[in-house]
Amino acid sequence: MAKVVIYDSGVGGLSIYQAVVRVCPQHDYVFLSDNAAFPYGTKPEDALLARVSLVVAAAIERLSPDLLVVACNTASTVALPMLRANYSIPIVGVVPAIKPAALSSISKQIALLATPATIERAYTQALIDEFAADCMVVKIGSSELVELAEKKLRGEVIDNAALTKILTPVLNNKDIDTLVLACTHFPLLATEIEAVFVAHDRAVKLVDSGPGIARRVADLAPVYSGAKLGQRGCSTAMFTRSLNAPQLQTNLADLGFSNFAVLDIPG
Ligand code: DGL
Repeated sequence: MAKVVIYDSGVGGLSIYQAVVRVCPQHDYVFLSDNAAFPYGTKPEDALLARVSLVVAAAIERLSPDLLVVACNTASTVALPMLRANYSIPIVGVVPAIKPAALSSISKQIALLATPATIERAYTQALIDEFAADCMVVKIGSSELVELAEKKLRGEVIDNAALTKILTPVLNNKDIDTLVLACTHFPLLATEIEAVFVAHDRAVKLVDSGPGIARRVADLAPVYSGAKLGQRGCSTAMFTRSLNAPQLQTNLADLGFSNFAVLDIPG
């Protein structure tokens, strides 16, 4: 059994956690949310790099993981080279699933929904140039959608009109057949997003990075030879600022988290 840390600014890491634990239930997981510095998607690159360095240093020093998943497109698209240069453990990054989206699109018109920071990244454009050169790609940056996902997990009502407004560029272009959810928060709203498309009589395929990341973790994380088939490891939820959200805590318990802790970040 391996110890796997899944790190994001907020609850988005839970979409990756769910995909990974489905494939690799035997590992011990720490879901680490840097809620003290949430959100990441509106931060300038240098400030984000500094924050990610601090959090990852603390996580690796104090939790000693076998593998780290940076379950955040906003952080991965800027910090992966720096992290991989500094640490010897395997570091899996989550980046926009542009390749599978381009491959599955029939119309070759796809939309990319991400944080404003991810939308602007050179890394994201390089993925488009490499894997979606034959596609028309509509880029949509939204921090509001990140907040809607946080609200949902806190048990608050989602503003459907706000969600519809965010999806307007897709609704207005009937040729778009594929939507890349390029922020780990967004798959948590997949049901609500699909409902908007159904209400507008549209069939748009949602693509996210979860399944690809799960396969990568399965390849990299050492399997415990003594683990019985179906044996479940333990899951801990950690926050950089103590949690004051009872419904979120209930949702985490429903996802299998039995321990809750705070990771103090110096500075
Ligand atoms: N979940 C993160 C991502 O995948 C970003 C959310 C935020 O803005 O903090 O990009």
